[in-house]
Amino acid sequence: MSGAQNDAASPDKPEEEMTPSSGEGDKEKEEDGEEASGSLARLLSMLTLGQQTTGERHQKLLTDFSLKGIVGIVQKIQSSEENKRRIIVMTGAGISTAAGIPDFRSPGTGLYDNLQKYNLPDPQAVFHIGYFRRNPKPFCMLAKELYPTNFKPTLSHYFIRLLAEKGLLLRNFTQNIDGLERRAGLNPDLLVESHGGFSTAHCIDCGHQYSEQFVKDCVFRDEIPRCTRETCRDTKTATEEAEKKKGGGEGEEGEEGEGEEGEGGEVKGLVKPDIIFFGEALPDRFATCIKEDMIKCDLLIVMGTSLLVHPFASLVDRVRDDCPRLLINREKVGEGDVMMRLMGFSSGLDFGEETGYRDVFHKANCDDGCRDLADMLGWKAELEEMVAREHAKLDDQQTQ
Ligand code: OAD
Repeated sequence: MSGAQNDAASPDKPEEEMTPSSGEGDKEKEEDGEEASGSLARLLSMLTLGQQTTGERHQKLLTDFSLKGIVGIVQKIQSSEENKRRIIVMTGAGISTAAGIPDFRSPGTGLYDNLQKYNLPDPQAVFHIGYFRRNPKPFCMLAKELYPTNFKPTLSHYFIRLLAEKGLLLRNFTQNIDGLERRAGLNPDLLVESHGGFSTAHCIDCGHQYSEQFVKDCVFRDEIPRCTRETCRDTKTATEEAEKKKGGGEGEEGEEGEGEEGEGGEVKGLVKPDIIFFGEALPDRFATCIKEDMIKCDLLIVMGTSLLVHPFASLVDRVRDDCPRLLINREKVGEGDVMMRLMGFSSGLDFGEETGYRDVFHKANCDDGCRDLADMLGWKAELEEMVAREHAKLDDQQTQ
């Protein structure tokens, strides 16, 4: 899960050429009263007409704005003499729903619609670092359900692995914390877990590292994981106590702060799995990889995400202008700001018939979209064989 409405971690806007919309000189403008107001009027009239300069200026990069066009791009990359690792895949919770893991925002079934029992001020609070500091219980209770256990990777996860095995995958940037990419056997070098994961944990006060097992054991015993280091002290509790001594009375949130260590004993820092909460910075690897990878990308595939959480969502703007982009999702997402585009900035995906020149939306479940793509590429049997083989292996491991 992710973090990330964290502006501080937000990558800079790409410095692309400005393509302001008007352009022509002012000579003829006075001839006609309606056109006399210059570039602003022109800009506005383009908006009204639904035209965009980008659409006019960029040549269409695809001969076909369906999976067929994307297949052509993959084949081109595959037949290239140069390094073929040119495809980036961006993923979100939608690639794991077929495994039985809910996404976050789908109405009714999404996690955020099903957290009533935790009495949160708002559903996202459960992943907010400030809220966690004050009241770690809801997250710890939820963590029991979230711990990656026996879920099996979906066909979409194996499709990504197939791209890797064919030497085409440059990187999979995922927002997911379910660990299914690794479980599917994707080489971790090809993976960026942008919103972290459960495999390690840290004390949020002294920074001491803990194992996944440490936290898991605590939460399954219904205990709040606390640091065990002698010198560690929960800074929030320490501050509250200091205030009390000064005569400040109760700490801030009266309803929270269970004081589970009690008895005048010192409360040590909370230990949290290294999933990135709202209000925390993204892993360094995220920044390093976007810097290295995005420029090299010749095809961006986006799957199963609402593209609502930044800075992850803005990765679609970090590829080159001549990089085709495919969205496989149940709904159209990530469409950018028309005004920004008019001003020549990259801004989200553009599926407009007139204005779009490189983006394809394939409305489907991720697994179906990946299967169709594999079929058109002649990889379907190989993909399905991989899924069956790997699922059988996981079943075996479970019965041992
Ligand atoms: P969301 O729940 O926001 O979006 C999932 C998207 O996938 C939606 O557009 C769904 O319609 C679509 N979808 C669901 N199942 C699908 C399927 N089988 N096939 C195709 N599309 C499907 O999830 P994310 O975008 O991953 O962060 O959420 C991003 C971040 O927001 C998470 O990392 C998490 C959350 O807050 C934190 O927890 C801090």
